[in-house]
Amino acid sequence: NIKKRFFNVNNENNYLFAFDLRLWYNVIYIVNRLEAVIMIGKFITIEGNDGSGKTTVLEGIKRALIAQGFDVLVTREPGGSEIAEKIRQVILDKSNLAMDKRTEALLYAASRRQHIIETVLPALNANKIVLCDRYIDSSLTYQGYARGIGIEEVYQMNVFATEGLLPDLTIYIAVRPSVGITRKSKQKELDRLEMETISFHEKVYEGYEKLVQMYPNRIVRIDGERFAEAVIADATKVVNEFINQ
Ligand code: TYD
Repeated sequence: NIKKRFFNVNNENNYLFAFDLRLWYNVIYIVNRLEAVIMIGKFITIEGNDGSGKTTVLEGIKRALIAQGFDVLVTREPGGSEIAEKIRQVILDKSNLAMDKRTEALLYAASRRQHIIETVLPALNANKIVLCDRYIDSSLTYQGYARGIGIEEVYQMNVFATEGLLPDLTIYIAVRPSVGITRKSKQKELDRLEMETISFHEKVYEGYEKLVQMYPNRIVRIDGERFAEAVIADATKVVNEFINQ
């Protein structure tokens, strides 16, 4: 009978078959476990000075990806989850002028952490393409470089906050602050960071340019001082090539 055929361990062949089954069971188990811990989606961030138009570009990229049938999640920093949005309000509140630069860096990192846990990782694990408006590079240039804490120090703090989760691809929309801040002040009332001096925003710009040198494989620089259509077309091309590679 069947039981005897497969489980008679005195027979060498049957023993091997049983061993084989166990091996396959283990392989399948491990693969399932790995799928649970390895992110299978793509994490794409978009960066740039205030008023660089990155939010418009992000919408363009999203439209192009959805048209190709991809499952896309658009989110932003600081914020992107309920707790993270509360932290955002504290950071950007115009009355918090006494905020220390390290407090500011820690709050951005705290908001980032919560956003990753609640929003980004679940989407990546569901095989989505996550498009995030600002991420770690904003902290590296705004707090690390422009505020003067140091890129390396802010990076280390963010390694703690993110457990090393870096974007798969970062689109950097390069717009000089003289152009960006004028655009922004025409659109809306400025928040605490946007109200900073022009020399602060110059530093942010310089910081981004440094990051492009530091991460040539991850960050793609796109000239943002052109008509929106041209910037969106370039950014979409880079993302499409990356996704379909
Ligand atoms: P936001 O209104 O989202 O600006 P934008 O639409 O230009 O992205 O405000 C975010 C501000 O916070 C912006 O001035 C950049 C700043 N910022 C940092 O300084 N560090 C960070 O880590 C992040 C994510 C943002």
